Amino acid sequence: MNTSILHSTEPNNAPLSVIDDAFFNHLRATEYSRIDEGNHTYLDYTGGNLYAKSQVLKHQDLLLNHVFGNPHSTNPTSKLATNLVEEARAKVLEFFNAKDYYCVFTANASAALKILGESFPFNEKSTFLLFSDNHNSVNGIREFCHSRKAKSKYIPVHYQNLEIDEEELVASIGEANPAENNLLAFPAQSNVSGVKHNQKWIAYAQEKGFDVLLDAAAYVPTTQLNLSLVKPNFVSASFYKIFGYPTGLGCLLIRKDSFAKLQKPWFAGGTVSFVSVVNEIYYLENNHERFEDGTINYLDIPAIKMGLDYIESIGLERISKRVKALIETLYNELIKLKHDNGTPIVKMFGPENFDHRGGNIIMNFFDINGKIYSGNEFENLTNANMISIRSGCFCNPGIDEINYCITHDEVGKYFTNKKDEDYKAFIAHLKQIRGAIRVSVGIATTTKDLEKYINLVNSLKNKAK
Ligand SMILES: Cc1ncc(COP(=O)(O)O)c(C=O)c1O
Repeated sequence: MNTSILHSTEPNNAPLSVIDDAFFNHLRATEYSRIDEGNHTYLDYTGGNLYAKSQVLKHQDLLLNHVFGNPHSTNPTSKLATNLVEEARAKVLEFFNAKDYYCVFTANASAALKILGESFPFNEKSTFLLFSDNHNSVNGIREFCHSRKAKSKYIPVHYQNLEIDEEELVASIGEANPAENNLLAFPAQSNVSGVKHNQKWIAYAQEKGFDVLLDAAAYVPTTQLNLSLVKPNFVSASFYKIFGYPTGLGCLLIRKDSFAKLQKPWFAGGTVSFVSVVNEIYYLENNHERFEDGTINYLDIPAIKMGLDYIESIGLERISKRVKALIETLYNELIKLKHDNGTPIVKMFGPENFDHRGGNIIMNFFDINGKIYSGNEFENLTNANMISIRSGCFCNPGIDEINYCITHDEVGKYFTNKKDEDYKAFIAHLKQIRGAIRVSVGIATTTKDLEKYINLVNSLKNKAK
């Protein structure tokens, strides 16, 4: 890497400034100093947020100064654990303004989605609609749907701006039988393009006989989800994406009036109020406990409250504004970058307007002859410069298929008669590069991070592969 490029005085390298720099630079220095101490440029907040030092110290202090036992017993160590778990649960519901919901603690958003998939009462007359722009952990629900002989259908996003095809959505909702158990699933924010899909579709679909799953995993780290205003039946999220620590915890929020509709396919310790062995009868608990199989993560769950308190001490609105300003600045700087022959170095995907976009964007890079850099080639460059970004499809194949115009028939033809195949073999068959580079910003991002990334991209200027 030519380091002189990183200190170039070209116009693109003028110091950037973004709203609230003083506050967030101070936060970076106090709570996230390890980033600079390790010479990191972290731009993968959609992959996982970073935790503040104070969160860890607070949790460590709790663990080192108390004795915790397995919850749900009357003994003192158990009671303490139960109290803190319930405090965390109440905090989650308060954070999302979700008094009409149960909060089921899960291992992550995927585990929450699996509970919903296996419990939703699909039948042969049901319709499962889902946006093409969904994480694989939502896409996977279609397998539960098919195993119950229900049909699934994807609503495409537009190639030009990666926003949903509204006409197709309305038509598909209209085709379903409103009397059946229908489900619509979409992400509040795309984990790939950053597009925040319009939440008006929640009430619209509900009025037409659908339950709605809102996958909020990529949305809630930087945007307020107020469940007293929008009322999806089910919501999934992972806590490490909101405040970095601990990993291994997420939640499924279930609207109380949708709770009885879910059919849990088995029972486990902690989920039942009665089980008999002499006569195979069992009764499930009538609240969140029904879906929390076995011993919950009672040592880490109290750290959820600490994480949410920390986010609130800064203000989600403040984080939201900052992230929007950061990502917009990054986008605007990157699209300026051109080779001397006038061709762009970067191609950005998604809408140009950031009013309905979050803190992640995707892009591809081209040499002076218009040849695309593969994800690996670009990642080698960023890795060598201690920049953490992400390349590939981000577990969201729908967006990638749209960006590369891959058709139903193309996939079908290739995979017919193939039992075990993978993404790499398919790419080799297509003889074209797939995937993109994702950059995401968050609470600890500073303009220095943006500058480092922009300068690295600019180092591709006039280069031939
Ligand atoms: C939108 C979205 N949904 C679901 C998931 C799955 O989250 P997890 O891997 O924490 O289960 C992710 C993870 O990146 C995501 O971005």
